[in-house]
Amino acid sequence: MIKDIQQDILRIKKEKGITILAHSYQAEEIQEIADYTGDSFRLSELAVNAPNDIVIMCGVHFMAETCKLLSPGKKVILAKEGCGCPMAEQLSADELRQLKGLYPEHTVVAYINTTAELKTECDVCVTSSSAVDICRKIENDKILFIPDCNLGAYVAEQIPEKQFKLIQGGCPIHATVREKDALDIKAQHPDALMLVHPECVPAVTKHADYIGSTSGIVNFAMKSDAKEFIIGTEISIAEHLQYVCPDKDFYPLSKHLICPNMKRTTLMDVYKALNGGGLEIEMSEEVMKKASVCINRMLELG
Ligand code: 13P
Ligand code: SF4
Repeated sequence: MIKDIQQDILRIKKEKGITILAHSYQAEEIQEIADYTGDSFRLSELAVNAPNDIVIMCGVHFMAETCKLLSPGKKVILAKEGCGCPMAEQLSADELRQLKGLYPEHTVVAYINTTAELKTECDVCVTSSSAVDICRKIENDKILFIPDCNLGAYVAEQIPEKQFKLIQGGCPIHATVREKDALDIKAQHPDALMLVHPECVPAVTKHADYIGSTSGIVNFAMKSDAKEFIIGTEISIAEHLQYVCPDKDFYPLSKHLICPNMKRTTLMDVYKALNGGGLEIEMSEEVMKKASVCINRMLELG
């Protein structure tokens, strides 16, 4: 049954000239039918160069928006309507305007996990893999980092010469992991290296052997000579690594590391999106223009 739907999807996307992108947190059967898989930023970059003018994003809403901002001429469809990242919606543009009033001398750095509307109020965007590098390159040494205080704390620790203002926000999935989880699983697998996403709280990341983005974690594990790894990010990364590196062992840092919104897209949703379903991403010209500024600044500095 799964194979039949996959065959239909592959046929239809070829006939209609549609590119399918799947974030690496998506289910394996969706990644199998995608033209490209990867982290959110890499997918948007790939969409720019994709030969087709229609792109289906299997992921969450801000990823499809980023894709549209980078490829305004393309039709971008989120495979399943309603899949959002709760962190991206934690702060409204109005609230950010108020914060900017309190910290007028700060450069506003936004994690890419934000809505396009919020990006219209930001100076520079970053991804988890580029955040440290970009914050270092910003000329201003006062930075208002939104919305993830855990990623922000990690970046601030790497750049002690700058002043960071953080706000209370973050990923409700990664932030559920507690220090005790890290200590318990390390005790169970004392030879394993622990690789952790910076969206986890500092009490967890301080025990990590490596801290990095989704792609950083995958690359580290694939290249490392070590044989055992504790994976501190969404559970599909541990599953994917186990699939591609059968000679190594991967243990999820916590069984709670499951992003429900990333898991809501099914093969049938992709099938329907190929046939007129899903949510087409549309933004006003003003939002497109203003939100692109901080994305383009990220590209210049990254
Ligand atoms: P990436 O930017 O690594 O794709 O991560 C997105 C995300 O939502 C992490 O939780
Ligand atoms: Fe958002 Fe967290 Fe899910 Fe990533 S894992 S999409 S940050 S809720």
